Amino acid sequence: MGTEEITLEALDAKAFVDRQVKAIKEAVGDGVAINALSGGVDSSVVTMLGHKALGDNLKTYFVENGLMREGEPQRIQKIFADLGVHVEIVDEQDKFFAALKGVIDPEEKREKGITQVFYKDVFAKLVKESGAKVLLQGTIYTDIEETAAGIKRQHNVFEQIGIDPQEAFGYKVVEPLIELRKPAVRVVAKEVGLPEEVSQRPPFPGPALCARVINEVTPEKIALVRKATAIVEEELRDSGAFQYLAILHDDQVTGIRDGKREFGRQIEVRCWDSTDAVTATPTDLPFAKLRALADRITAEVPGVVSVTYNIGCKPPSCIEAV
Ligand code: XMP
Repeated sequence: MGTEEITLEALDAKAFVDRQVKAIKEAVGDGVAINALSGGVDSSVVTMLGHKALGDNLKTYFVENGLMREGEPQRIQKIFADLGVHVEIVDEQDKFFAALKGVIDPEEKREKGITQVFYKDVFAKLVKESGAKVLLQGTIYTDIEETAAGIKRQHNVFEQIGIDPQEAFGYKVVEPLIELRKPAVRVVAKEVGLPEEVSQRPPFPGPALCARVINEVTPEKIALVRKATAIVEEELRDSGAFQYLAILHDDQVTGIRDGKREFGRQIEVRCWDSTDAVTATPTDLPFAKLRALADRITAEVPGVVSVTYNIGCKPPSCIEAV
């Protein structure tokens, strides 16, 4: 793959931060760079490294793609404001939903609905407006590993699969975390002063809730999976699991509510034990917890009549559904 991993054991977080800050300074020089902050640990660390290196010459944007979790843009903006970093929210949701309209194939969703809109439409415009030559992004070792192996095209991987961002999108991409897996990124997150609510945050996919809607993604379906996600995250926050999520299925099933037939929706809950997302097993959750989840989801998410819990392992399953 051309990139060497720095294992958790081999990581010297302070030396790593110093090296990356220097590398970012060298790559950007006196110019301006931009980065997109999603609020996940990877892009949060990149934001802090970039600000250490460039100060106000790094412009940080939160792209509101309409696919994020409840209250997320403002929550993240506030966390970073408390760290002295200004984050600008750019509302581009119409572009994403327009590109996702009618798209069913998972890889096409990532490519057409997310990658192209992010990099060609949204970032290219931000690069132009800000005069930036460089985009800093939080690609990690696992992202390129799975993409290079042809398992899943991660939305943020280019050079390792033969795409030159300079040629394709008109700007250079710098990836300070490319040698690290998630546990090492969390250590660096602490080193750069991020609070625990960010450094210990469970992973969340770049394509956001789009990775959790089977078949076509619409604003209505995203609203449902967003509500279910909020419940799952609230209920499983103290589970100690690696990642937990809700998936909205596309096929409907017959249910009954208030004595009437309801042809309703199905939510699948997944909760994973894993260290690096490469392999994962379902968490052995108490049945009472599963029942509590089902009661809340069927009561609070409109039209949901069925809740299931995934018991398959990765492989052959994946953590996300799309
Ligand atoms: P999978 O579904 O491949 O997920 O078992 C492995 C880990 O990666 C996250 N994930 C993504 N992250 N872009 C990302 O940045 C993506 O396209 C993507 N797909 C999955 C997933 O949440 C899990 O932590």
